[in-house]
Amino acid sequence: MTDQAISPAHSTPGLDDVIAAETVLSHVDGAAGELIIRGHALDSLADWRFESVLALLWAGLAPEAMEAEAIRAALGPARAQAFALMQPLLPATDGLSQVEALRLLLSALADGAETPHHLLATAAVPVFAAAIARRRAGEAAVAPDPSLGQAADFLRMLHGVPAAPEQVQALDSYLVTVADHGLNASTFAARVIASTRAGMFSSVIGALCALKGPLHGGAPGPVLDMLDAIGTEDNIRPWLAAALARGERLMGFGHRIYRVRDPRADVLKGAVARLRDGAGRIRFAEAVEAEALAQLAEKKPLRPLQTNVEFFTALVLEAVGFPRASFTNVFAAGRMAGWTAHVMEQELAGRLIRPKSRYVGPVPEVAA
Ligand code: ACO
Repeated sequence: MTDQAISPAHSTPGLDDVIAAETVLSHVDGAAGELIIRGHALDSLADWRFESVLALLWAGLAPEAMEAEAIRAALGPARAQAFALMQPLLPATDGLSQVEALRLLLSALADGAETPHHLLATAAVPVFAAAIARRRAGEAAVAPDPSLGQAADFLRMLHGVPAAPEQVQALDSYLVTVADHGLNASTFAARVIASTRAGMFSSVIGALCALKGPLHGGAPGPVLDMLDAIGTEDNIRPWLAAALARGERLMGFGHRIYRVRDPRADVLKGAVARLRDGAGRIRFAEAVEAEALAQLAEKKPLRPLQTNVEFFTALVLEAVGFPRASFTNVFAAGRMAGWTAHVMEQELAGRLIRPKSRYVGPVPEVAA
């Protein structure tokens, strides 16, 4: 008995348009190009600090109500706790990619930890990500400064010196922009795991594993690789045409939900433009973007392909000094806000997520 082909009429292979959870946290309107984070349009949050978005997302879900200032104060000691935990484990990350190293270090967070788990997970990522990036550059980890905000300390732990306010603002803007985004693959993974009562740390580690893929959070590094490979204005058109002719996907373009421009792209473009030296890099990126959109429209006339968040993510993170191999970890530092909130919301919702599959395999022969 042979397997039956899966019929698109009776299955939704990517769960497109399937509503799999109710949430108060964020809403993505793909047709209008709008992202709402708990009642706020994304562009109204562009100047917020990361801690303010944590307060917004965690409100009513975390066991204790905390304002942004209290969250900032609690994250500092939690970063120090994560740093102490990390020190003996750091050598074990040698030979791993940066995101694999983050996955390993997060696995050391124990379900028995006394610090509220959403706080500890959120505090730990910048500590681990900065130390991993430094270790790859042959430098020792820098201990956190608990008195600083999360973005300022992230950059300080990365560079070993305090960051300029404009750089801190750019990173805050980035962390806020990627904080939550509906039921994306990593958030869904987190909610599935949370629904089994496996706990916060297991849920967010599962989310990180989903984020790691190039179709989700692994794209911004390759965006810079693409810009570097193109190199000059003259090479933009032939390089893109050749890549598309080979059937390659252009990194930083296309989205499952957005059919118009991803609103996060413009917020991040604004963040780069405000940085010293940002304008030159943007000019070249914009020329690549314009040509890529024109060629994609010609190549895929039936599929509106627009710029996604990863395109300008690459420029922001490069401008504040993150090595490209660390970009997925920085994404995780921001998205941890949404993951932790969704995990807590799922735990309150209470029902095990257990969909069905449609069996299309062979059936046992019936005896004659
Ligand atoms: N470049 C070239 N062609 C593309 C691109 C792209 N970036 N994106 C989609 N297409 C093509 C596909 O090849 C497909 O063509 P086909 O019908 O001839 O096979 C068609 O457009 C439809 O694509 P889908 O696979 O249906 O799009 P899907 O919704 O599954 O994928 C995704 C969305 C994964 C983001 C895709 O656009 C992609 O691979 N983009 C490049 C990687 C990227 O930028 N990832 C970051 C996403 S943002 C985020 O997760 C934070």
